Amino acid sequence: MRIEFSGEIALITGAASGIGLATAQALKACGARIAGADRDRRGIDAAAACGAIDLALALDVTDSAAVDAALARCDAELGPVSVLVTAAGILQRPLPPDRLPASEWDKVIATNLTGSWTTARAAGSRMAARGRGAVVFVSSILGAQPGPVHGYSAAKAGIEALTRSLAAEWGPKGVRVNAVAPGFAETPLLEKATHFGALDPAQLAASAPLGRLATPQEIATAIAFLASPLASGITGVSLAVDAGFLAGAGFRAFPGRG
Ligand code: NAI
Repeated sequence: MRIEFSGEIALITGAASGIGLATAQALKACGARIAGADRDRRGIDAAAACGAIDLALALDVTDSAAVDAALARCDAELGPVSVLVTAAGILQRPLPPDRLPASEWDKVIATNLTGSWTTARAAGSRMAARGRGAVVFVSSILGAQPGPVHGYSAAKAGIEALTRSLAAEWGPKGVRVNAVAPGFAETPLLEKATHFGALDPAQLAASAPLGRLATPQEIATAIAFLASPLASGITGVSLAVDAGFLAGAGFRAFPGRG
């Protein structure tokens, strides 16, 4: 039994870095042709230059006209997209509600939630019209578990809701929709949060039952599984890849246990 994507075209947003780049590499290794989209033009060109992606699309996922134009380019240059992975995302500062600027709330919702919706609506509608396809959203364990990043958590909870509603919408048309909810993983996003003092990777690793962070490659493997025919009976679910961080929450409440 192996994951096989020969003949499939995958569109991956956020493919210039971290989880999106690891997913591009994983799906390509399984035979897919990859269209990688990212607002970081230099980064997405570098991903193409090193062979991780076949078509580099410099775009902002909040720009629905650019997303539509990118899908038209995929159709013309690679073929119709049958797999969508939405890994484009940003974190926010862990500020109390009275200090969180409206602009920061707006940006994190626009990028993480509206950007995922815009891309899924465009790619998923095309897949539904053709009668086959798979969407994998990249959510977060903070979509289900509270954290002091209110806009980010709300955006990720919204993605979890979209996973279920679009699964129900498009299931009858042959399109499966699932999510992967990463725990803390070592990527440039986490490095940035560490840099401004919001997170401590060593403490996060110690809090996870497996004693470490999840890797971008482990998250990419879960995405590849959910997008593949091996998951043909699975739609509308969110799969946490978090080295057990969520499972350990109750145990962390009893630090005095011997
Ligand atoms: P990253 O910063 O390494 O990669 C994110 C990519 O998205 C970057 O290349 C960036 O340029 C791109 N991007 C950001 N805004 C964009 C926009 N408006 N349009 C197009 N591209 C845009 O971050 P990482 O860690 O790989 O994150 C990927 C996803 O995983 C995000 O949605 C993040 O919320 C999620 N995640 C990450 C976790 C972690 O610990 N690294 C934990 C839980 C979720």
